[in-house]
Amino acid sequence: MSELTLPEVELNIYSKNNPVEVKVVENYVVTKESSPNIVRHITFDISGTDLVDRVRVGQSLGVLPPGVDVKGKPHKLRLYSISSPTSGENGQKHLVSTTVKRTIEELENKLYLGVASNYLSDLNPGDIVKVTGPSGRRFLLPENAQDFNYIFFATGTGIAPFRGMILELFEEQGFSNDCVLVFGCPYRTDLLYTDFLEEMDEKHPNFHFIKSISREGRRKDGSKHYVQTKLIDDKELLTPILAKENTLIYICGMKGMETGIYKELLKQGLSGYLDIRKELPEDVDEIPTEDLKRYVKASARTFEEVY
Ligand SMILES: Cc1cc2nc3c(=O)[nH]c(=O)nc-3n(C[C@H](O)[C@H](O)[C@H](O)COP(=O)(O)OP(=O)(O)OC[C@H]3O[C@@H](n4cnc5c(N)ncnc54)[C@H](O)[C@@H]3O)c2cc1C
Ligand SMILES: NC(=O)c1ccc[n+]([C@@H]2O[C@H](COP(=O)([O-])OP(=O)(O)OC[C@H]3O[C@@H](n4cnc5c(N)ncnc54)[C@H](OP(=O)(O)O)[C@@H]3O)[C@@H](O)[C@H]2O)c1
Repeated sequence: MSELTLPEVELNIYSKNNPVEVKVVENYVVTKESSPNIVRHITFDISGTDLVDRVRVGQSLGVLPPGVDVKGKPHKLRLYSISSPTSGENGQKHLVSTTVKRTIEELENKLYLGVASNYLSDLNPGDIVKVTGPSGRRFLLPENAQDFNYIFFATGTGIAPFRGMILELFEEQGFSNDCVLVFGCPYRTDLLYTDFLEEMDEKHPNFHFIKSISREGRRKDGSKHYVQTKLIDDKELLTPILAKENTLIYICGMKGMETGIYKELLKQGLSGYLDIRKELPEDVDEIPTEDLKRYVKASARTFEEVY
C-alpha cells in the first residue's frame, strides 16, 4: 500500500472559553421538499478569524447556542461536521459549511426541539454564531489522497464530511481512482444532496453512488437495506475495490453502523480493514454485533466518526 500520511492539523484554536464569532451567509434545506425531516446546509463566513486555512474537511466545529439549560447553566457546545472542501465552499477559503438536521422529538407527550440544531436552523444570513474548534485529527483525507481508493459509508447527516471530500477529490484534484459512497437513510425523501451526488455519479465513471433505503422494502431474506448489506448486494462493484491494497474505508453517522460493517468485512475475509483484539470464533455470526468491538477495532485503513 502507498504510505498513508494524514495532514497535521491544529486543534481548538478557539475553545468554549474563547470562542470566535462567525457570520451566517446561507442556510437552505437539502432534503427534498416532500420530506418531513429538515436538514439544512449552513455556511459561515470565517474571514478575519484564525480558522482561515486551518480547518479541513473531516473536522468539526463546535457551536455554542445562546441561553441556558434547565439547570440555568450555559448550553453545552455541540459539534457539527464540516461539509465544505478544505479549500472552502465554492472555492472561497473564508466560507465553511456544515449540514444540520433539526432534532425534533416527542418526549413524554411533549414536543422537544434540540437546542443547537434548531438554533442553527432558524438563523438567517447576517446572523452571528459563536463557534469553537476545529476538532478531530484523524477523520481526514490523506495528504496523498490521489494514491487511494475510497469506500465512504454514511447514514443520515453522516453524509456531511463526504460531500466536502467528494468535492475535494473530484472537482479540485481530478481524482482518477475509485470512490464509492454508500448512503443510508430511512426513506427516499431523506436522501441528502441528491442532485449533486447523482450528477457526480453520471459525470465520473469512477464515482459510484449507492443508496440504501431502510424502510422501503426489504432484502430477500427479510432484513433491512442497511449500508453494510450493500457489501453483499453490491458485491460485484465493491469486492474488487475492497480487495485492492490501496483502498480506505470511511464510516460516518449513526453509532452502531460501524459494527455491522465490521461483521460483513470479517465474513468476506476482508480483514485488512480491522485489527484483531481477541481471537475470533470460526463463525463470526456467533458474536452479537454489539460485542464485536471486543474482538476487532478499526485498522489504519479504516476511519470512523460515529455518534
Ligand atoms: C463529531 C460529531 C459531529 C457531528 N456532526 C453533526 C452534523 O454534521 N450534523 C448534525 O446534524 N449533527 C451532528 N452531530 C450531532 C450534534 O452534535 C448534536 O448532537 C445534534 O445536532 C443534536 O443537538 P441538539 O442541541 O439539537 O439536541 P439536544 O438538545 O442536545 O438534544 C439531543 C437529545 O438529547 C435528549 N434530550 C436533551 N435534553 C433533553 C431534555 N431536557 N429532556 C429530554 N430529553 C432531552 C433528546 O433525546 C434529544 O433528542 C455531530 C456530533 C458529533 C459528536
Ligand atoms: N461526525 C459524526 O460523528 C456525525 C456527523 C453527523 C451526524 N452524526 C450522527 O449520525 C446520526 C444520523 O442521524 P440521522 O437522523 O441523520 O439519520 P437517519 O436519516 O435517521 O438515517 C440513519 C439510517 O441508518 C439506519 N441504521 C440504523 N441502525 C443502523 C445500524 N446498526 N447499521 C446501519 N444502519 C443503521 C437507519 O435505519 P432504520 O432507522 O430504518 O433502522 C437509517 O436508515 C445521528 O446520531 C447524528 O448525531 C454523527
